[in-house]
Parts: sequence; structure tokens; C-alpha cells
Amino acid sequence: MSAVIEEATRIARQFEYSPEEVQRGVKEYIREVEEGLSEEGTTLSQIPTFVTSVPNGTEKGLYLAVDLGGTNFRVCSIDLHGNHTFSLTQSKIMIPREMMTSGSAKELFLFLARQIESFLRIHHNEHFEAHLKRKIAGTAREEDLFDLGFTFSFPVRQLGINKGTLIRWTKGFDIPDAVGQDVCALLQEAIDELNLPVRVAALVNDTVGTLMARSYTSPGETGTFLGAIFGTGTNGAYVEKLNKITKMAKIEHSDYDKSTGEMIINAEWGSFDNHLSVLPTTEYDRQLDADSNNPGIQMFEKRVSGMFLGEILRLVLLDLHKSQGLFKPASGSDVFIPESSSLYRQWGIDTSLLSIVEADKSKDLEQVKSALKDHLKVERASENDCKAVQTVVHAIGKRAARLAAVPIAATLISTGKLKEELVDIGVDGSLVEFYPNFEGYLREAMREVPEVGEAGDKKVRIGISKDGSGVGAALIALVASKEGAKPQL
Ligand code: GLC
Repeated sequence: MSAVIEEATRIARQFEYSPEEVQRGVKEYIREVEEGLSEEGTTLSQIPTFVTSVPNGTEKGLYLAVDLGGTNFRVCSIDLHGNHTFSLTQSKIMIPREMMTSGSAKELFLFLARQIESFLRIHHNEHFEAHLKRKIAGTAREEDLFDLGFTFSFPVRQLGINKGTLIRWTKGFDIPDAVGQDVCALLQEAIDELNLPVRVAALVNDTVGTLMARSYTSPGETGTFLGAIFGTGTNGAYVEKLNKITKMAKIEHSDYDKSTGEMIINAEWGSFDNHLSVLPTTEYDRQLDADSNNPGIQMFEKRVSGMFLGEILRLVLLDLHKSQGLFKPASGSDVFIPESSSLYRQWGIDTSLLSIVEADKSKDLEQVKSALKDHLKVERASENDCKAVQTVVHAIGKRAARLAAVPIAATLISTGKLKEELVDIGVDGSLVEFYPNFEGYLREAMREVPEVGEAGDKKVRIGISKDGSGVGAALIALVASKEGAKPQL
């Protein structure tokens, strides 16, 4: 075996995540669930969302939704048809990197409101103009406002259905003056400054949106139990019994409907086990965390989600490059990688590279070779190099998918959900959608948890829930609009 493959294999072994570790992870997760439901400021936030029921597919109406949570900002209008289907119009814009890290909260929210304005001008101009005329004439009416669901996929201390203060930024965002502020009020303020006919009716985490969207569209009678994202970040939301959320008594909050006896909890599982009592840790995980803008936080997410898997891979490849001459030419030939290669840039590797590399089952690894060229400007990678890369990618991706089983299995166990015939789970995100066999590895690890076992395979239905952040947000805006609250500024 060539030295580079041998070393890649040795590193890959460090990413193995055994059945015993999965089981220990599940135990610790259940402990953190209990803790998070009873206290504030715990590692697993277990945020009450004030959404107390899931849809059944008969909901109707036209709503706006916006989504801030990763690389893009999306604005959409959603027409819920009331028969499990909907139509959606949307626009998407990339958030300028400077805006994510060096702007002020005011600049960011005005930028968002401007995108809503241009969306309305393009797709709902008549309504917009009519509102402006009425506003000038002093006859503007509350009922002419669009209700908007604001998908804001960061940890928020939620105080009501459309009220919540930002706890901390994640996924590369860092705008310090927004922390501690009510993000719905910030958005409403910017919207009002531009005179838009829009009321921010609901604050929604993308996982809650995913859960709601899946429940609206999913076949059969069973309401959805859990919504999970495995994309740029990772997180989950699930239906919890109200009487188990004992910290509600300690939280200052607005009124909500208690009749269902349930509430959706946003777990913020990206921060599961920040103290690293059970999570597997390699030297690459350590380095990634130390170089990140939030060391010691989102430790689970840093081992599982798209934003970080590329960076783990990059650190391993750099190591192999230095120690074993990966991507280095045989003596005398040209240099393979230019300095501008994203191999040398922090966060330079996108998860899509991992998905392509993992998918190549050919003998000569032609797709790996051309992906290395496209993504990293590596010219003429040797077959051994390609094999070494694939070995490492496989190990990183498989560990992520097996880790992903931990919060899902633990939530199923802690809620007693496995006693039921069928449990429906909605998932979304680039990893679960595009990384080959992500669900397969996840299910394999779930089977290794004795309380889930083989039976889990039949009981647990996992379905992709596209556009959760649009449709789901619209559904929550619908519920909230009945309550008629306007964010207080
Ligand atoms: C991060 C955010 C969380 C979000 C997840 C998926 O973990 O903190 O709120 O749900 O990413 O986008």
C-alpha cells in the first residue's frame, strides 16, 4: 500500500464512531434533554417555541415568509391550498460576507427589508401600491397587511410566537449589537421604515418550519413528530408534552394556547455536549474549533454539519499534503496546486465536494479527480491521492451520519414515542439530501441503540421536507395571525 493511502487509512480510523459510543451519546443526550426542559442556560437549549399544534393539511391562505439562516436570504409568498398542497414564489439572494460579520444589526435588517420590498414590487405590486395609497390617505387597514413568518435559524430565547431575543450567532455570523435584541422587532422596525404592508407574525426556527411543512404535506393521518436539519448547520425540533417543560414557569412569556397539552421544542442540538463528555474528538476537530469564531460552542454541529465537514476534510488534506506529499508531484514535474487553491483557505471546502467524492464508485476515480480540480485546482491528482481523499471523506461523512442518529434516537426514547405504530420525521438540508447514504448510516447507528433496535426501521418514517422554511413559516404565521399580535417596538 502506498504511504499516502496508509496514512489516510490511519487517520480514517480516528473517525470511527462505535456502537458503544452511540449508546453513550444517546444516554447523555437524554440527560441533557431533561436538564434543558427544566432550566435555562443549559448546553442543550430546549427552546419553547409557542407553537402548540402541527398542521393537518387543511390550512389555507396567502402568506409571506423570509428566511435568514445560512448563506442565502430567501423571500417567498406561499399560497396554502388547504389540501396538503401549496404554491410558492420565491427569490433568493446571497448575503454579502461583510454583512454577516462586520455590519450593524440595523444595516442587516434594513438590507433584509429592502429585499422584501423588491419581492413585493415584483410579485405583489398591486397590493403594495394600494396599501401605499391608503397609507397616504390615512385609511390603511390592519387586515391588508401580509402576515409574515420569519425563519431565523439561530438560537433565540423565544418569549412569544413573534418575539425572541438572539442568544448567540452561529454558522459564521457575528454581529455583536444584535445579540440580546428582539429580532422580530428589529425586522418590523426596518419594514415600517420602508412602509411595507407587512406584519411580522411569527418567529420560526428552520427546524420548526421543517416539522410544520412535513406535517402539512405528509401523507396519511399521522402528524409529524420531529423536524431536523442536516445542512450548513444541524438542529432539530420536536413535539413535547407541556407538563414536561417545567422551565415554562420560570420564563417570562406572552400567553399561548394550552389546549393541546403540547408544544414544539427547538432543541438547538448543535450545542449538544459542548463540554465534550461523550463526543468523539480528533486533533482536526480540536484545530477547527480553536480557529473558529465561537470556540467551545456548537461542538456537535462542528462534527456533523456541512459548514464544518469541509473544513475537517481540509485540515486532514493539508496534513496529508505536508506529511505524505499528497497532491505533490513526483520529483521534477510541475507543481500540482496553485497558491490560490481553496485548500489553503479556511472554510474553503464546500460539502458538495464530499458528496461527489463519496459518490464515485468507479475504479479509476475519475469524478474524484475532476472534483479535486474544480474545487481545489489540483491538477492531475494521482490515483493513490484520489483513493486517500476518498478514504478520508468516507470516514468524516460516516461519522457525521452516525452522530446524527444520537439526537434522533434519544428524542424518540425520551418522549416514549417508540410505543406508537408510526413516527414521522421530516428532514432537510444539503447533507441529508445529497451525501450518499447519509440516511443509511444514520439508520444503521439507530439500530445499534437497543431501545430502538430493528423495530425502529419499520416504525420511523423519514421524509425529505423541502421548503420548510417557506411553507412551515407560512403555517406558523397562519396560526399566529389568528392571535393578531404585532411585535412591540
Ligand atoms: C444552527 C442554528 C440553529 C439552526 C441550525 C440549522 O445550529 O443555531 O438555530 O436550526 O443551524 O440551520
